[in-house]
Amino acid sequence: MTSIIVGCSGATEIAKKIAKHLKLPYSKLNAEKFPDNELHTGFNSTIKGKDVFLVQSFCKDIADDVLESLFALHTAKDLGAKKVMLVAPYFPYLRQDKRFKQGESINARIIARLFSGFDRVFIVEPHAHRLKDFKAYFPNAQKISAAKAIAEYIHKKFDDYILMGPDEESANWIIPISKLLHTNPIIFEKKRISPRKVRLVSGLSRERKRIAKVVIIVDDIISTGDTMIEAGKEAKKLAKAIYYIGIHGIFVENSLQKLKKSGKVISSNSISSSTSEIDLSKTIADEIRKFSK
Ligand code: R5P
Repeated sequence: MTSIIVGCSGATEIAKKIAKHLKLPYSKLNAEKFPDNELHTGFNSTIKGKDVFLVQSFCKDIADDVLESLFALHTAKDLGAKKVMLVAPYFPYLRQDKRFKQGESINARIIARLFSGFDRVFIVEPHAHRLKDFKAYFPNAQKISAAKAIAEYIHKKFDDYILMGPDEESANWIIPISKLLHTNPIIFEKKRISPRKVRLVSGLSRERKRIAKVVIIVDDIISTGDTMIEAGKEAKKLAKAIYYIGIHGIFVENSLQKLKKSGKVISSNSISSSTSEIDLSKTIADEIRKFSK
């Protein structure tokens, strides 16, 4: 196949690793700001006739990251790319999937429409759990599961542990991970009081109260860290050591420092940070390979 992996500004590290797994050429997208803050993008390599895989994680400045990807998509098409795919280790706005209050925009739907020009949008663990019709409103999207990479990480690192999911939606990733590890997880119910406050309804009374060396709590996103902190309080009843695994470690404000006070924090490299111990590049490369066959 004549393909190229292009790293956009939110995902250059993981993009390089994906290219290496696939033995494909890698090129970084040029993205600069003019003095008035307008974004300017351009390709460094020949695009004509190629399948272009743009790799972007929407985490630094989401609005700029969105624009950068859309500018790159349309430029690649202008330059004669055969197909243009977006590979999003982390894709934003999917939590805004319904009108929570009257008059609100459903931004998950709008963002899906904005990205409809891509031939495929690969998204690692999209936060699309409340939507039965994800495929209907985001027809060109394809989910990539991080379960195997996380299960392998846990298997290598721990022997005696309890797996925990902080809310009902976490069943979407905690059950596949648990199946691979042949264990039963504890799953909580969460009530969101506000964007910055959550309350967990304990699932412990219904579960075995086994004491393990560690409790590993896995959430798809760590943003303010409040969900993990609340889950951590419950986890303390079962083990002294707490591990917080966030598939997408956004870590707004000082959430990482706050979380580190009660446990060890680990994330994947869908968003690159000091906690990125779980490498998803092979998982993503495997999906690209299947698509390109
Ligand atoms: C929401 O349902 C997600 O799965 C996460 O639990 C949530 O986004 C975490 O956010 P925060 O770290 O702000 O509690």
